[in-house]
Amino acid sequence: KQRFVKSVSLALCLGAAMASPHVLAKTFRIAVGDAAGSAQHQLGLKFSEAFAEKTGGKHDTQMFLNGQLGDEQATVNDAAMGLLDFSILAINNVTPFSPSVGVLTLPYMMQSLDDAVALTQGEVGQKLVENTIRDAGVRIVGWTYTGFRVLTNSKKPVHSLDDLQGLKIRVPNNEIMIDTYRAWGINPTPMAWSETFTGLQMGVVDGQDNPYITVSSMKFDEVQKYITNIRYLFSIEPLVMSEAVFQEQPEDVQQAILEAGKVATEHSAQWLVAQEDKIKAELVEKGMEITEPADGEKAWIEKAVSQVWPKYYDQLGGKEELNKILKSLGRDTI
Ligand code: MLT
Repeated sequence: KQRFVKSVSLALCLGAAMASPHVLAKTFRIAVGDAAGSAQHQLGLKFSEAFAEKTGGKHDTQMFLNGQLGDEQATVNDAAMGLLDFSILAINNVTPFSPSVGVLTLPYMMQSLDDAVALTQGEVGQKLVENTIRDAGVRIVGWTYTGFRVLTNSKKPVHSLDDLQGLKIRVPNNEIMIDTYRAWGINPTPMAWSETFTGLQMGVVDGQDNPYITVSSMKFDEVQKYITNIRYLFSIEPLVMSEAVFQEQPEDVQQAILEAGKVATEHSAQWLVAQEDKIKAELVEKGMEITEPADGEKAWIEKAVSQVWPKYYDQLGGKEELNKILKSLGRDTI
């Protein structure tokens, strides 16, 4: 029915366009999971600017921050059905719809910004774009790099896995992340992103993990005290577009979308490098305490890699596929 309504309105627009060259102008809606000041917001701003420029100002975008258009996972469904044009969300919230994307949430797979850029912009990234169109009905047109997800909590400094025991930690509804915390000895609480601030505030959960920039833009410092500087997941936050809406666009608009996505992606990596240290210092000024994981994070790494990776070999295309990726990053194979 939706498709029918869309085609009717498209036909009406086309008719009207003959009378005025401006009628086909469209404002594309972008759902954004995070708040103003976040890496997601930055990507959206840069994309919007480049897109308007590349279409000579004919088309523009409107961003809806803070999950106003629904929880991140729900926006994937809406975009797949053509009810929403774009969404910017964390990659872990795409995985439930596009399992091979799980390679980007495998603990300790990416060990630096360079690894994240290499994986997303190389052959692996291209394959993930194709798989996600096929499996989830959305096209990844840009990538945001937001830094490692650090663990925050309201109760106590956490150095070791022993310290972690007994804490109630919120995780996204993502099997790999749930299994990672299980490997670390606790049963985490899956909770939608849009409910997380309130969950922390009300004490439904004691802690969560997300990058410094997200902790700051979401004002988690108001409800969290301690940070553990773990590096198990380098957070990547794609800009996805409804494939149905993409296919409805004329070729020049499709081209403008893809090019604007590239411009925004390049900007994102530079923005992260310029922001992260400053934001970390601001969080400390606001009273948060940062702890390094004991023993160079050794036990965290060993448990996560030995217990979680084997469970996902099949979903991620087999051990050989993962070895290819590890080799391309210059790392030991498994
Ligand atoms: C999550 O924890 O669900 C996401 O990382 C939130 C986000 O988009 O920043």
